[in-house]
Amino acid sequence: MTRALVTGGAGFVGRTLASRLLDEGFEVIVLDNLSSPSPLGPPEGVTFIEGDVVDPPDLPGTIDRIYHLASPASPPRYLLDPIGTLLTGAEGTRRMLDLAERHGARFLFASTSEVYGDPTEHPQREEYTGSVQVTSTRACYDEAKRYAEALTYAYHRQNRVAEIRVARIFNTYGPAMAPDDGRVVSNFVNQALAGRHLTIYGDGSQTRSFCYVDDLVEGLWLLSNSDVTDPVNIGNPEEMSMRQLATIIAEEIGDSGVDYFPLPESDPARRRPDITRARTLLGWEPSIGLAEGLVPTIHYFRSLIDA
Ligand SMILES: NC(=O)c1ccc[n+]([C@@H]2O[C@H](COP(=O)([O-])OP(=O)(O)OC[C@H]3O[C@@H](n4cnc5c(N)ncnc54)[C@H](O)[C@@H]3O)[C@@H](O)[C@H]2O)c1
Repeated sequence: MTRALVTGGAGFVGRTLASRLLDEGFEVIVLDNLSSPSPLGPPEGVTFIEGDVVDPPDLPGTIDRIYHLASPASPPRYLLDPIGTLLTGAEGTRRMLDLAERHGARFLFASTSEVYGDPTEHPQREEYTGSVQVTSTRACYDEAKRYAEALTYAYHRQNRVAEIRVARIFNTYGPAMAPDDGRVVSNFVNQALAGRHLTIYGDGSQTRSFCYVDDLVEGLWLLSNSDVTDPVNIGNPEEMSMRQLATIIAEEIGDSGVDYFPLPESDPARRRPDITRARTLLGWEPSIGLAEGLVPTIHYFRSLIDA
């Protein structure tokens, strides 16, 4: 039986991926320090080990695959601890690459569209080198992920980890998100469910492209089974402004009004993946549009309120 380690497997994407790996017949170990877990926690059926990737405990048995997702992931989380965020990306990734080397394991790194910063190229192709303002507050996350990608390729080039995969994940939403994680879909849905005004930063013209979590996990699964070592964008190219998103959510849940706040520093103006590489090399593309994906997402957030 294939044994996989999912770091960050108590979080939103990690627990959804861990469930999928269990369904695929894998034995799954989750390593997570519970700094920003999903309200659902790690899925039933995994071996859960509480610990930090920066100073990981000994893990029992052999490991065939490492899915390295552990990282603060939303701006409110990483801005609370910029040094910890950089260390998680740098030292945490080094420790997980060392583990992959010791076990001869395949290593998948969960990178991000934030490596493109506030992009000057649109949509973003993997070849685009990015536009990150290194002195900005957001840089702790962007540069941690850029460094971790570079480290992953360095381990590969120095023949220490033969099998590497790098997924550049774009904005993802769905059940298992933490309601207070500060990301726009969870913010808007929970504000609307509570009858509060939706908070839009700036004039709401900035765009994002939202991918349903099951589509993302399918992409991660296909990438991890492929032989593609170059980075691959995994995201939904359905792009919309924050004002459009607010309108859609108000239509689904009820119109509670909008408040406008100043735009945070270095907030990307536009974000849309070019997924040609995923389509061509993995045969992957998202199949769940926003209207469809919002239904289980809203249902999930409602169930947390009712619980
Ligand atoms: N969800 C998205 O839209 C998105 C977009 C781009 C990239 N990503 C990446 O995907 C991964 C998962 O994101 P998510 O949305 O599930 O976030 P999340 O916050 O829900 O999950 C992250 C998990 O990692 C754990 N963690 C954080 N630092 C750790 C450490 N040092 N040691 C051990 N565990 C640690 C947290 O407790 C949490 O359970 C992250 O690497 C994130 O950067 C996510």
